[in-house]
Formats: sequence, structure tokens, C-alpha cells
Amino acid sequence: MAIRRILTVPDPLLKTVSKPVEGGVTDAHRALMDDMLETMYDAPGVGLAAIQIGVPLRIIVMDIAPKDAPREPRYFVNPEIVWASEELKSWEEGCLSVPEIYDDVERPARVKLRYLDYHGAVVEEDAEGLFAVCIQHEMDHLEGVVFIDHLSRLKRDSAIRKVRKAQRIEA
Ligand code: NI
Repeated sequence: MAIRRILTVPDPLLKTVSKPVEGGVTDAHRALMDDMLETMYDAPGVGLAAIQIGVPLRIIVMDIAPKDAPREPRYFVNPEIVWASEELKSWEEGCLSVPEIYDDVERPARVKLRYLDYHGAVVEEDAEGLFAVCIQHEMDHLEGVVFIDHLSRLKRDSAIRKVRKAQRIEA
């Protein structure tokens, strides 16, 4: 396993539409998911899409277990939302690709998912609360969408400026 560099806005790669994993989940995909998970824990964060480390595949890792609880890694390959509630819910989101920026985004409160797990088995699952927020946020990344794209242009531009400035100071 290895920790990979996480891309930050406005890296153009984050706008990539990721491609489906074809031909099932292989050891190479599992190695990628292991790296993604290690990178996410190291950051630390609760979710990561492959494109955030520059790999344009429809793969997401997540762990939304409470901080002091045992780890509960989750893996989503080719995730699809097969149903979404009409009811919307607003949640304060953040993103490892937009460090230190948090803002409210409104999304369906509940969704039904279909995806392949770490071993390539088809899973159908209902999501609500933080799980629903997180999977929708991560699935946006697969379409080249970052959460600040849901904000006003003013807020988005300001967020990108802050991220760039922080990185100049770090560099
Ligand atoms: Ni994100």
C-alpha cells in the first residue's frame, strides 16, 4: 500500500469524467483501492474518489465510522444511484481536494445504490444521513464535479483562491 498525492482545485484532472471498470474487479483494482484507503486515512478524510489521486476510474472508498470506533472501510466500484428521495437535505460538506473549505450543499436525503464491492459482488444498498451525503459527494467526483461547483460562482472562486494561496505558502 502507498500514500498517493491528492489533487486539489483547480487541477483540470478533477473535471475528468471517470470511466467504468470493465471486466470485473481485479487484483490491480484492489491494490488501487488499498492505496486510496491508506491515502484517505492519512489525509484524514471520510471519502475519496480515484480521480482525486489522478486515476479516472469509477471507484470510491469511504469510512464514515465515528472517530473512536473501529475502522469500517467501504469500497464502491461503478456505483449507480437507482433511486433518490424527493426530500432534500442540506449538509455542511468538505473535500480533500478543496482543503479547509466547508459549505452547505443540498442533496436528496436518501438514495438507493447499486455497485460492485471489493470482491466484485453486486450490492444494492439504501443510504441516508452522512452515508447518503458522502456517496453523492464522491459520485459527483466521477462526473468531474467538486462540491464547490454547487455553490455560487463568487463562493467557488473565493474557495479556489484560498486553496491556491494556502498551497503557495506551503510550497
Ligand atoms: Ni470530495
